[in-house]
Parts: sequence; C-alpha cells; structure tokens
Amino acid sequence: MRYCTVEENGYSGNIYCADVFDLLNKIGPESADIVFLDPPFNLGKRYSETLDLDNKPEEEYQYWLKRVIDLSIIALKPGGALYIYHLPAWAIRFGAYVDQSLIFRHWISVSMKNGFARGLRLYPAHYALLYFTKGAPQQFIRPKINPLRCRKCGEFVRDYGGYRSIIEEKGINLSDIWDDLSPVRHGNKKHRRPNELPIGLFNRVLSISGAPGMMYVDPFAGSGAGAVAALKNEMNFIVGDILPENTKIISERLSGAFTTQESVNG
Ligand SMILES: C[S@@+](CC[C@H](N)C(=O)[O-])C[C@H]1O[C@@H](n2cnc3c(N)ncnc32)[C@H](O)[C@@H]1O
Repeated sequence: MRYCTVEENGYSGNIYCADVFDLLNKIGPESADIVFLDPPFNLGKRYSETLDLDNKPEEEYQYWLKRVIDLSIIALKPGGALYIYHLPAWAIRFGAYVDQSLIFRHWISVSMKNGFARGLRLYPAHYALLYFTKGAPQQFIRPKINPLRCRKCGEFVRDYGGYRSIIEEKGINLSDIWDDLSPVRHGNKKHRRPNELPIGLFNRVLSISGAPGMMYVDPFAGSGAGAVAALKNEMNFIVGDILPENTKIISERLSGAFTTQESVNG
C-alpha cells in the first residue's frame, strides 16, 4: 500500500495509498508526535467517481470516526498532540469523546467564510480545530504572529497603545482564533478540488507542537499540504489517502525532494 518515500536533508516521509484503518494499524503504538485528522465531514461530497466516502448514516459515521480517533490515540507518543479539524456540530461530540482519554488544550476557531446561512441558524464562519495532548505536551511553543495591518495605509488595525514598539519588534501572541488564514480558492493554487486546507494552517500547527526530527501523521492527507509543511519544518511524516489520485498529487508536490517509488503492496 505504500505509494512512495520522500527524503530531504536527512528527513523522510512515507506516502501511503490506504484506508485510514490500514494506515493507523500499520503505525506502531506510541510512534507519532502529532496526529492530524481532517476527515470527510459526512456531507455527501464526491471525493471520487467510484467510492462513496462521505455519505454514512449518522450513527455509523460517529462510530467510524471514534474508531479512527481510538487508533490515533494509540499511535501517539506520550506528550504527543492530536489535532482534529471539523464542523463545530461534530467537533463538540468528538471533542467530548477525546476528552475521556487526552488532555483538552484548545478549541481553535479557524475562520472560513465560505458557507451559507441555512434554516434557523447564524451564518457559519468558522471551523473547529481541536487540540489535545496525551498527558503534558512534550513540545509546546506559543508562536508570535504579525498583527493585522490596513491594506491601504499599512497601519495596525488595532490600537496597541504603549505596547506598539514591543509589538512591532516581537509580534503578538497567537490566540485560539485564527482569522488570518486565506482559504485555498484560486484555481491556479489548487492541487485538487474539494477541501484543501491552507498550508499556513499546517505550518502553525507544526510551529506549536512540532520540532525537527519529530513524526507527523496525517491519514486523510488529501493534497498533502501537511506533508509539505512537515518536510519544510524538518519533520518526518507518514501520510495517506484512500484515493490514488491524491497520493500521486502529494508525491508530485514533493517532487523537489528525493522520491523513491515503491511497490503498491510495500
Ligand atoms: C477533508 S479531505 C482532507 C483534505 C486535506 N487536509 C487537504 O488539505 O488537502 C478528506 C480526505 O480523506 C480522504 N478519505 C476519505 N475516506 C478515507 C478513508 N476511509 N481512508 C483514507 N482516506 C480517506 C479523501 O480522499 C479526502 O482526500
């Protein structure tokens, strides 16, 4: 099931064309520093012409993703970090489930204004990025980011009063509201069609919980932005996707790195 192996500057990654359970069962217990789950949201999206991957009865979907979460927790090293990206309505349920085993650290609101107001509801403008650790985190860095500036005049959008010079020099602390990441919308930047997350999101996750030489695992890798970010951050990785067209895209994205094509049964 291995698609290929990628190496760069002494760091390496394996890309698998595999079902999530085959991938997570293959990873040994306590071997991942970060597991990132961006599963199908069960919204009936057509990821593939032949496989119906996003259309389970609600109970079945819940059971399926809980099993994925169970295996992800087993795969995490003590102190490792689990991130789950989902719709708030599901995040609240899966978050409560993970909370029974791991330490809750954050519900990060990732602003994504590409939905529609439906029924008796507000306009949905964020996704949830749940962040848990297996015990005390073995790695945690609170990143500093550049404050938002006006596009026209270049001035800070907020008034930082007497802290202005410090903020100009050092930036501001990253909060649990991420409203500065642009969704991947433009055709020329897209490596595949549905649901690609911006690479900035992965870079941020890795800057919080990652370090050179650590192991990043992403079993729903899609177009592989997580793998690209892992290699750029000098981490090893194991990523997978059930669709061969996606694993091909990932290896093409990483084609600057040294890539070895493997047998499909490897
Ligand atoms: C929400 S998308 C992930 C997008 C990805 N984070 C990115 O930035 O491109 C979910 C991915 O899971 C894959 N997938 C769906 N069912 C799967 C399964 N049972 N095992 C492995 N991958 C699966 C889909 O092909 C799709 O690429």
